[in-house]
Amino acid sequence: MAEILVNGGNRLQGEIPVSGAKNAALPLMAVTLLTDEPVTLRNCPDLDDIATLSNVLRGHGASVDASWLGLTVAGETDSGSARGSLPTLRLHTPEIASIRAPYELVSQMRASILVLGPLMARMGRAEVSLPGGCAIGSRPVDLHLMGLEALGAWIELRDGYVFAETARGGKDRLRGAKITFPKVSVGATENLVMAATLAEGRTELLNAAQEPEVVDLCQCLTAMGAQISGIGTSHLIIDGVERLGGVTHQVVADRIEAGTFAVAAGMTGGELILKNGRLDHLGSLVGVLHETGIVCSEISGGIHVVSTVDRPRAVSVTTQPYPGFPTDLQAQTMSLMVMAEGSAVLTETIFENRYMHVPELIRMGANIDINGRVAVVRGVERLNGAPVKASDLRASASLILAGLVAQGETRLSDIHHLDRGYERIEDKLRGVGASIERLDGGT
Ligand code: UD1
Repeated sequence: MAEILVNGGNRLQGEIPVSGAKNAALPLMAVTLLTDEPVTLRNCPDLDDIATLSNVLRGHGASVDASWLGLTVAGETDSGSARGSLPTLRLHTPEIASIRAPYELVSQMRASILVLGPLMARMGRAEVSLPGGCAIGSRPVDLHLMGLEALGAWIELRDGYVFAETARGGKDRLRGAKITFPKVSVGATENLVMAATLAEGRTELLNAAQEPEVVDLCQCLTAMGAQISGIGTSHLIIDGVERLGGVTHQVVADRIEAGTFAVAAGMTGGELILKNGRLDHLGSLVGVLHETGIVCSEISGGIHVVSTVDRPRAVSVTTQPYPGFPTDLQAQTMSLMVMAEGSAVLTETIFENRYMHVPELIRMGANIDINGRVAVVRGVERLNGAPVKASDLRASASLILAGLVAQGETRLSDIHHLDRGYERIEDKLRGVGASIERLDGGT
C-alpha cells in the first residue's frame, strides 16, 4: 500500500496553488441531473471523490469527461494523462437512464446522496442507497428526507435504500414549501436547494447552511436560470422554474485546503503565499491563527501567511457551522496546538467521533486528553516522527502537519483517505521546502 513519508524540521517558504473545493465540486457535479444541457466546471480538483461521483452520475446516464481523473473510471480506459492536468470537467445528461444510485457506489462516498434532490426534481422518482455511517460519526440523512417530504415526496426506506416518489407515481412536480431545519446541514441544504429549483411554487429554507460551497452552488444554479434569493444567508428563497439550462462555472477555491496550508506555514515558522486562496472564506481560522501569532492577509490573487513568533501560542477552538470554525479544520488545528506554548481546549460540536487522529498524535509525543467532545491539548516542545495511520480525510492532513515539525521520520499509511480530498498534497508541500514523498505500494 502507498504511504507518505515526511521528514520534519524544514521551514516552508514559497507559493502554493489552492485547488478548487472538493465540497463545492461535488454538489456542482450533481446539478447535471437537473438539466439536459451541458454543465462545464472549471477549476475542478482531481480527487478520488470526484471520480467516485462521476461513476454515480454515469449510472444515471450522464456523460462525464473525466479521462483526466487519476482513477480509471469503470468501463473506460485511462487516457494516461497526469493527475490534475486538465481541471475542466464536462458533464452532460440529455436523459436520465436510471433513477437508482446503488449501494456499491454510494457506500464509497456519502456525498453521493446529493443525487437525490436533483433526481426527484427532474424525474419525480429516485432510489438511492442509504449512505450509512462513516468513521467520523453516524451521519444520518433524516434532514434531507424530511425536507423532500415537505416538498411533497412520498418516501419509504426499504432494503437499505431510500425510495422516493412525487404524487401520481412520480408524474407530479415537487411542490414548494417552507422548511425550517432543526439543525444546520450543508448536504441537506444543498439537496433541497437543487430539488426546489424545479419545484412548483416557492420554497423557503430556514436555518439553511451558509457555507461558501452552498453559495457557490446557488450561484451556479442561478446562472442556469434558477430563481434563488437570500444567497449566503440562513434564509434561502427559491421560486421554482420549469427548466434549467446549461452552464460553465468556476469552482470556488478550497478553503479547507488553504486553511491546512496556512496552518502548515505557521507550524514550521514559515511564510507562504496561497495562490487563489480566499481569505474572506477563512475568517474564523484567521482569527484563531492571529491569536497564535500567525498572520494571514489578503494579497492580490491569494493569501499571504507568515509566522511572527518562535513558537505559536495555544488558542482554544470550538467548531460551528459557517461562519464559525470549520470542523474540517479541527484536526489540523489540533496539530498546531500540540506544539504550541500553553494549553488549548478544542470542542467538536458537529461530529461525535472526530478525534481519531488523537491516538496517532499521542504516539508522536502529543499530550492530549479527550472527554467526550472536548479535547484538552497541552503543548509540547518536541514531537517525534512515528509510523501513523490515517483514519479519515482531515485526520490524514493533521498527521502530515505534525510530521512536518516532528524530529525524524513520519510514515503515514492508509492514505486513500488523503487522496479523497487533497490534490497532490505531497507535491505542493515539497514545492515549498518540505521533505515529503509518496512511496508507492510494495515498499
Ligand atoms: C459536509 C461536508 C463535510 C463537512 C460537513 C460539516 C461535503 C461533501 N461534506 O458534510 O466535509 O465536515 O459538511 O461542515 O460538503 N445531520 C443530521 N441529519 C441529516 C444531515 C446531517 O443529523 O440529515 C447532522 C450530521 O450528522 C452532523 C451535522 O448534521 O452532525 C452536520 O452535517 P452536514 O452539514 O449535513 O454534513 P455533510 O453535508 O454530510
